[in-house]
Amino acid sequence: MIDYKFYSSLPEEAKLIRTEVFCDEQGFIEEFDSVDGYALHVIAYVDGEPAGTGRVFKQDDEKSRHIGRVAVLKKFRSLNVGAGIMSQLELKAKEDGAEKTELSSQCQAQGFYEKCGYTAEGESYLDQHCPHIHMFKLL
Ligand SMILES: CC(C)(COP(=O)(O)OP(=O)(O)OC[C@H]1O[C@@H](n2cnc3c(N)ncnc32)[C@H](O)[C@@H]1OP(=O)(O)O)[C@@H](O)C(=O)NCCC(=O)NCCS
Repeated sequence: MIDYKFYSSLPEEAKLIRTEVFCDEQGFIEEFDSVDGYALHVIAYVDGEPAGTGRVFKQDDEKSRHIGRVAVLKKFRSLNVGAGIMSQLELKAKEDGAEKTELSSQCQAQGFYEKCGYTAEGESYLDQHCPHIHMFKLL
């Protein structure tokens, strides 16, 4: 069973999952930033065990929300945990009045976000030496 819990400050579970996935597995160095201070964070629990995380936040545009740091621990992948995290974050964005969600996708994850209904736009770019592309979804 998958449960989702929201946190208005960065929970310990998110720190552990993001460190394992983005730092240890993918080699990113600058993982935590000022956005963590004002984003809404979600943790997905599979049978009570923390399995994945993500965050949603507002930037300049009142009608749009940004989703980011979506990560699922290896042993919980391909169980729809990632897709569930996306749905939960999109629901929160919509409840908050947003008409659109957007994100910066690692190019290797583009197919995952397409499955979640996102469309890529513009050229790919490097963020911490990793190719990314901007994607959006109308809610
Ligand atoms: C990307 C990630 C979050 C996906 O999580 P997940 O729980 O394994 O994904 P789901 O099981 O919810 O997959 C949903 C769908 O997307 C597809 N999918 C998952 N990862 C994919 C990928 N990298 N490329 C293409 N399709 C992918 C699945 O096959 C599934 O398709 P289906 O509905 O036809 O069966 C996870 O692999 C992960 O944490 N990766 C490392 C961190 C990362 O790259 N995060 C994204 C940063 S931008």
